[in-house]
Amino acid sequence: MHLAVIGTGYVGLVTGTCFADTGFRVTCVDIDENKVRILRSGKATIFEAGLEDLLQRSVREHRLSFTTSLPDAAEIADVLFLALPTPPGADGAADLSFVLQVADDLGAYWSAQKSRRYRVVVNKSTVPVGTADKVRARLEAQGLVAGEDFDVVSNPEFLREGVAVADFMKPERVVVGTSSERAAAIMRSIYEPFVRQGNPILVMDERSSEMTKYAANSFLAMKVSFINEVANLCEKVGANVDEVRVGIGLDSRIGNKFLYPGLGFGGSCFPKDVQALRRTAEEYDYDFQLVDAVLSVNDRQQQKLPRWAAERFGGSLEGRKLAVWGLAFKAKTDDIRESPALSVVRSLLDLGAELTVFDPEAIDNTRRVFGDSLRYAGSMYETLDGADAIVICTEWHEFRRPDWDEIDRRLAHRIIFDGRNLYKPSRMAEMGYEYYSVGRPHVTEDVLA
Ligand SMILES: NC(=O)c1ccc[n+]([C@@H]2O[C@H](COP(=O)([O-])OP(=O)(O)OC[C@H]3O[C@@H](n4cnc5c(N)ncnc54)[C@H](O)[C@@H]3O)[C@@H](O)[C@H]2O)c1
Repeated sequence: MHLAVIGTGYVGLVTGTCFADTGFRVTCVDIDENKVRILRSGKATIFEAGLEDLLQRSVREHRLSFTTSLPDAAEIADVLFLALPTPPGADGAADLSFVLQVADDLGAYWSAQKSRRYRVVVNKSTVPVGTADKVRARLEAQGLVAGEDFDVVSNPEFLREGVAVADFMKPERVVVGTSSERAAAIMRSIYEPFVRQGNPILVMDERSSEMTKYAANSFLAMKVSFINEVANLCEKVGANVDEVRVGIGLDSRIGNKFLYPGLGFGGSCFPKDVQALRRTAEEYDYDFQLVDAVLSVNDRQQQKLPRWAAERFGGSLEGRKLAVWGLAFKAKTDDIRESPALSVVRSLLDLGAELTVFDPEAIDNTRRVFGDSLRYAGSMYETLDGADAIVICTEWHEFRRPDWDEIDRRLAHRIIFDGRNLYKPSRMAEMGYEYYSVGRPHVTEDVLA
């Protein structure tokens, strides 16, 4: 069986590489010529732990290839995974133009062939309920017959950036949405190597599968917004959200994951997927009140750090030098899409601050967005020279146990605004730092006096 992956971004590259690692022949397609050139040379175009080694091995052993030619993949592949962008359109709905265009192109190619054979087209992109039907209709419009020439399957992806390879190799579950037994059997055989420890492959109808992805991401986003609300209230009532978080998380009905307060959620998935679910609800005339709250809490949360900084420095940050640690939307990735750190950076710039920023992986991506409006440091310590305060936006491991002597030597004032709760307030007070963190007692000038 030959597989193709159309769209070789975060999801497509991991998907293609992991399938190839289990022995499948895989052709990855992308319209970005530069990306394809880099991938052909055996270099990963994204930072993901373990990815480049797997990629190089499969390229070397001729199981994995990269092309800009969709017809090449359409010709050779039996199963084609669409891992294309589905960005939010102006109204918040997922923009399906990439997916539907590729469906049209595949349909045109196959319908022009003299002899036809059966193919499975798999939506791996996150797509709204009803998209499998739309893709099927596009292929049928080219004269292809569903069930004979092709089937369309929904197969949402649940990998987490930062641990994407590990997640793909050992998924907690695989969701397959199809009403075709033939397609279901093929999907089972493709995923069997990944669920040898007994995790389930759930086969359901297309619409339930599409809904599962949006419901999962919106629920996780809701957990983040919920604990952020609790944290904000903790600050007001004098409670410590760290204690509360553990206190509630040990209840197995609640669970301790995704209960970390901070700057809110970001990344290429949660914000757009929650918006898309809201849009779907609107289309079906349903008032899904929780999703509105999840989004507005998240917007407000991203403004906490700039507000603290402005208040601390008398309302304006004009002429203030701040060191920003962390730009990626979370640790272990170079992805800055919808990163809360970027909202913080924008607001701090608007307030007049001069920013020197550092991130272990996301500097290049950030430079493309902000250009010369920021100074870019080569290490976390280089951000500090003469800075009035540190602003922590991403929970990179290396920020957790810094060299405090080095910080003391370089930082002008002992002030830290921590959007990721990396340090203990009591320890910071002992060291004489003003320390503002989320949902925990602030160590203010007055506390230190
Ligand atoms: N990033 C994640 O963590 C994640 C997790 C689960 C699901 N998803 C979903 O998977 C989908 C892809 O996300 P991503 O993060 O991989 O996006 P991405 O932007 O990183 O990658 C998409 C790739 O598709 C390519 N592309 C665009 N048009 C094309 C075309 N016509 N033919 C071939 N290639 C084309 C782009 O050049 C790009 O390389 C989205 O629907 C997203 O919501 C993402």
